[in-house]
Amino acid sequence: MKVGDDGVNHIESKYGHVPVLAEEVMAGLHCRTGGTYVDCTVGQGGLVARILDAVGPAGIVIGIDRDEETLGMTRERLKPFAAQLKLIHGNFVDIQRHVRTAGVSAVDGIVFDLGISSVQLDDTARGFSFTAEGPLDMRMDRSGGTTAAQLLERLPETELSNVIFQYGEERYARRIARAVVRARERGPLRTTADLVAIIRGAIPASYRHGRIHFATRTFQALRIAVNSELDILAPAFRDAAGMLAPGGRLCIISFHSLEDRIAKQTIRDLSQGPEPLLLRMTKKPVMASDREVAANPRSRSAKLRIAERLPQRRCA
Ligand SMILES: C[S@@+](CC[C@H](N)C(=O)[O-])C[C@H]1O[C@@H](n2cnc3c(N)ncnc32)[C@H](O)[C@@H]1O
Repeated sequence: MKVGDDGVNHIESKYGHVPVLAEEVMAGLHCRTGGTYVDCTVGQGGLVARILDAVGPAGIVIGIDRDEETLGMTRERLKPFAAQLKLIHGNFVDIQRHVRTAGVSAVDGIVFDLGISSVQLDDTARGFSFTAEGPLDMRMDRSGGTTAAQLLERLPETELSNVIFQYGEERYARRIARAVVRARERGPLRTTADLVAIIRGAIPASYRHGRIHFATRTFQALRIAVNSELDILAPAFRDAAGMLAPGGRLCIISFHSLEDRIAKQTIRDLSQGPEPLLLRMTKKPVMASDREVAANPRSRSAKLRIAERLPQRRCA
C-alpha cells in the first residue's frame, strides 16, 4: 500500500473507492500483530487491506458486506490473503452470529464505515445516483427486500413525506411526496430519471440551482429507507461492543448526522453507569483534514468516533 503526497492511496483509488479517514481509523484500531479484527462494511476492501498489513500473516480479519457483488470483487482482489481473511455476505446487524460462525469468540477491533461506496454509487444499474438513468432499485443486498420503485409505489403520501423529511432533511418533502403520489396515479415510476423529473417539477425554481443537486436529499432518504439503514445501527454497535476483548477498539465512521447521533449516543450509553462497557476515546468526532477533503471531497461529511472496551465486564 502506498499513500501519495496528495493523501490518496492510489492502489485503492484504482479500485474505485478511496476509504475516508483511513489513517485515523488505523490509529484508532491500534492493530496488534497477530490480532483478530472485523470490518463490518468491507466494501472494496481498502481498510481491510490496511488491517491485513498491520496484523501480519498471523492475524485474522473478518469482513462483512451485505452487497454480494461488491464482496465478489473484493474476494478476487484480496485472494492472496484468503487464508487469513474471512469474507461474509450478510448484514452487520448479525455481527455476533457472523463472527461466531467464523469460529471467533472475541476480537481486538471492529470498524464500521457506513453508507455506500463510490463503486455502488457509480453503477447506474443500482439506481443510487440521480446523475444517470437507471432502475429505481437502491438495494445494497439485491438478494431480497423492497426496491425504491416499490416503496414509491406503496407508501402512503404522509409516510413518504416523513421518510423524505426525516432521512433526507429535505425541506420540500411534502411537495415532493405529493408530486410522487400524483405521478404514480398515471403509472409506475421506473427509473431514477423519472424521479428526478418529478422532484424538479415539485420544488421552487430557485432550489434547482442550489449548492447541492436538488435530488440529493430525496435520493439519500429513499436509500436509507430501502436498506433500513438507521434502525439497525444501535443494536449493531451494542453487539459489536459486546464482542470486543478488553482493550479492543470500536471505530465508527458515519456520513449522515442521524448516523453520527446514533453512534454518539450508543457509545455514550455504553460508557456510563456503574459498570461501563466502553471507554469513550473521542468526545468530539474526528473529521478529515483539509488535505484529505481536497483530495477526496466525499470525506467532507465523514465523522469518526472511537471507543475502547473496558476490562471490567466479561464478553457476551
Ligand atoms: C463506505 S463503503 C465501505 C468502504 C470500505 N471501508 C473500503 O475501504 O472499501 C460501505 C459498505 O458497507 C456496506 N454496508 C452498508 N450497510 C451494511 C450493513 N448493514 N451490513 C453489511 N454491509 C453494509 C455497503 O454495501 C458498502 O459496500
